[in-house]
Amino acid sequence: MSQQQLDWSNLGFEYMQTDCYLRADFKDGQWGKLSVCTDPNFSIHVAAVCLHYGQACFEGLKAFRRKDGSVALFRPHENAQRMISTAKRTMMEPPPLELFIEAVKETVSRNIDWVPPYGTGASLYVRPLLIGASPRVGVGPSEDYMFFSLGMPVGPYYKNGFFPVKAYVQESYDRAAPLGVGNVKVAGNYAAGLYGDYEGKHKGYPICLYLDSAHHRYIDEFGTSNFFGITKDNKYVTPESSSILPSITNNSLRTIAEGMGLKVERRKIDIEELPDFKEVGACGTAAVITPVYSITRGDKVYTFGKENESGEILTKLFKEIQGIQYGEIEDKYDWMLPIN
Ligand SMILES: Cc1ncc(COP(=O)(O)O)c(C=O)c1O
Repeated sequence: MSQQQLDWSNLGFEYMQTDCYLRADFKDGQWGKLSVCTDPNFSIHVAAVCLHYGQACFEGLKAFRRKDGSVALFRPHENAQRMISTAKRTMMEPPPLELFIEAVKETVSRNIDWVPPYGTGASLYVRPLLIGASPRVGVGPSEDYMFFSLGMPVGPYYKNGFFPVKAYVQESYDRAAPLGVGNVKVAGNYAAGLYGDYEGKHKGYPICLYLDSAHHRYIDEFGTSNFFGITKDNKYVTPESSSILPSITNNSLRTIAEGMGLKVERRKIDIEELPDFKEVGACGTAAVITPVYSITRGDKVYTFGKENESGEILTKLFKEIQGIQYGEIEDKYDWMLPIN
C-alpha cells in the first residue's frame, strides 16, 4: 500500500506498514544509537524474557498535520515520562527521555508523507515499544532491551466518530488490582482486559467500565480509556485511583476544563453517584473523547443526555483539544512539539 492509494477520511484504527521504524538496543549496560529499520520482522531469542515473563510495555501518541501545513506531536514528553515509570515498575531499563523524544520525532519526520492531510480527522499514531530481550528461564528481569518506535496513519478509533456509545459495567472480571500494575502501561494489562471487553462487546456494548477490584464500588476506568463526567452542577469529575492509567488526554482535558471555568475534582467516585452526572465521557489518545450515553450495571441503566446527541460541555472540550492539536486555536499550554 502507498500513501497515494489511501482514503484518508475513512481510515480505521489498524496496523499499517509505513516507510520505516526506529530501533535502539540496550546491551552491555548501555543504550546504543537509534537505527532506521524497514523490515517489520526482526529476530528475537525464543527464550526472551518479554515472551515468557511479560517484560513488555508500550506508549501511544499522535502527530497531527495542522491548519498551516506543519506537523506536530501532542505532548510526547508526557509519554516518555510514563514509559519511564512503567519500565521502573516492571524492572525494565527505561529509555532515556532524550532517546524517546528523538525516536518519536524521527518516526514522524521519516514517515512524513504518511501524516494524513489536514481536514480529514486523521493523524499519525506513534507506538513506542520496549521489550526485555535476554534469554531466561528463571523468573527475573532481562539484562538487554530493545526499544522501537513505529508510526501509522489512523482515523477516529470508533468509526462513528464523536457519537455517544453504550457502556457496560464488567464485574465478572477485574483488570487491575489496587497495588498492582493498572497505573502503568505494561502489555499484560491489555491481555488481562481482553476477555472482559470481548464479553461486553458480545452483549452489544462497545466499551466496558471497570470498578475498583477490592470493593466493586468505586469507578476505575474503561478498558482502554479514563472515565470523566460533568455533574449537574457543572463540575468536571474524574476518578482518583491507584489502579488506573494516568491518561495524558484526561490531564489535558482537566486543564482545558479549568480554563473554561469548570471546577475540577479528582476523587473516588461511587458508582451510585452516576445519577448526579449529566454528561459522561471516555478519554484517551486513540478516540480523544468518546461520549457515553448509558452505563448498564446488572439490570440498572444510567443514562446521560440524549441518545443520539453529544453533550454540550463534552463537545466544547473536544473542539478545544482538537483545535489545539490541529493548530486551529492557540497552543497556549505549549503542548505541541513541532516536527521540522
Ligand atoms: C487503560 C488505559 N487507560 C487510559 C488510556 C488513555 O491514556 P492517554 O490519554 O494517555 O492515551 C489508555 C490509553 O493509552 C489506556 O490504555
